[in-house]
Amino acid sequence: MAKIIDGKAIAQEIKDELKEKVAKLRAEGTEICLAVIQVGKDPASTVYVGNKKKACAYIGIESLAYELPEETTEAELLKLVEDLNANEKVNGILVQLPLPEHIDENKVIKTISPKKDVDGFHPESVGALSIGQQGFVSCTPAGIIELLKRSGIKIDGRECVIIGRSNIVGKPMALLLLRENGTVTVCHSHTKDIKEVTKRADILVVAIGKAKMVDESYIKEGAVIIDVGMDRDENGKLCGDVDFEAVKDKASAITPVPGGVGPMTITMLMHNCVKSVEGR
Ligand code: GUN
Repeated sequence: MAKIIDGKAIAQEIKDELKEKVAKLRAEGTEICLAVIQVGKDPASTVYVGNKKKACAYIGIESLAYELPEETTEAELLKLVEDLNANEKVNGILVQLPLPEHIDENKVIKTISPKKDVDGFHPESVGALSIGQQGFVSCTPAGIIELLKRSGIKIDGRECVIIGRSNIVGKPMALLLLRENGTVTVCHSHTKDIKEVTKRADILVVAIGKAKMVDESYIKEGAVIIDVGMDRDENGKLCGDVDFEAVKDKASAITPVPGGVGPMTITMLMHNCVKSVEGR
């Protein structure tokens, strides 16, 4: 049976470290403030935004919530982001995605000041990551690196395979694993023989958005499996992109869904908020 990588416990450990840091910063006169913007009422976004606010309260970060109506125009949203860029009290700006269709997501992301881009989505943040310079890193892949390190899993010199090439997970994940000296391969919908590639993986990161797609036939004996999926199975139960039951005896370590990668995303957002005031 594989070792279960307990994302909930690791996330809690990091949140407590951050809470201590924030208390110290406050004692020195530095407060941290995150602005969270949601446009419309997407139910999943409402849950995520609520959890972000809760995490802020736990750690001691002030959160400013902007709940804007679905009809908000692109110009109105851009104006709000610009005002928050100029607001010295605000250290981090997060615009919850997806945005309504009439708003150009890329334009909004580009408008956020890279100094306040705690999501790590701005082209300047992504560019900095790709050439090994300082900047904010996308929270989910950054959280996966923390999960691996804090579980004592070596990345240096190992075969790392990622399924999925999204801007939020797959691509930054590849850059981060490369930064840790992994040998990195990215599979996607045009990959000819996915299994032939994934079976080479010492560390397999699955971020494809298909319920239980990866079973034992995709993995090598003893592989470390990181499941980024948040899907529903045939009975409507929350599950990952990996068929946990099918791979648990072949893998050496695995993240469960829920309780694996999920809790790390918000935790790394909190980490980025703290980073936004450090070294100022
Ligand atoms: N929607 C789903 N995940 C995320 C995230 O990490 N950040 C933002 N801004 N929106 C999201």
